[in-house]
Amino acid sequence: MPRLELCTDKPTLARSAVNHFVTRAQGAIAARGRFTVALSGGSTPRAMFELLAQPEYASRVDWQAVHVFWGDERTVPPDHADSNYHMAKETLLDHVPLPDENIYRMRGEIEPQQAAPAYEMQLKTVFGDDALPRFDLIYLGMGDDGHTASLFPYTPAVHEQNHWVMAQYVDKLQSWRITLTPPVLNAGRCVIFLIAGADKAARLDEVLNGPHQPDALPAQIIEPTDGELIWLVDEAAAAQLT
Ligand code: 6PG
Repeated sequence: MPRLELCTDKPTLARSAVNHFVTRAQGAIAARGRFTVALSGGSTPRAMFELLAQPEYASRVDWQAVHVFWGDERTVPPDHADSNYHMAKETLLDHVPLPDENIYRMRGEIEPQQAAPAYEMQLKTVFGDDALPRFDLIYLGMGDDGHTASLFPYTPAVHEQNHWVMAQYVDKLQSWRITLTPPVLNAGRCVIFLIAGADKAARLDEVLNGPHQPDALPAQIIEPTDGELIWLVDEAAAAQLT
């Protein structure tokens, strides 16, 4: 069953997200010798990354055994302000002893139709190609239109069942995106949505309590097959939950 964790505000949500990271990293490394995590993009995770980079938290993670991926990426170079990788690099990756070879960046600077299969190959080198990649932890955000990762309303990526990674043109953005697909996202051991702010409140109620319509509300496609689903929500975003 999905679990909703209500946080007072954005700083509290960031702290809770970091605590999940540390706890699950310790558990995965103890159990399997490594921790595989897919980071979300956008602005919400920034506070979490900055907090996780603080010694009081970073010192509790064996970064040599951590492998960092992304749920989606914009089609921009890695040093571009809009790059999800760039934001994570600035706030977290440059401040922790994570080996470069453990960072698996979606290459937004090349043709998206090449970047998607290239990332799928990277996933296969890490997870093998005999089954879906099973991330220990996947962070997701949700847009005020109900998209998650780069699964946008009424796009084919929402119902992709074969590819693990897709390049998807997004009309409303007039740009291409690279995204993990629902089968990979739903194979995660634990999927955590980070949702904060009053601008998400109405949509969150639709997603959680409204009719099941993932074409319109792609966040609804996230239903881990054999994993935990946690909605980490601040009070402002939860304000309209019925
Ligand atoms: C992206 C994200 C996207 C994001 C939501 C929420 O590349 O933009 O992956 O899915 O998580 O749009 O973004 P905010 O956190 O900025 O509201």
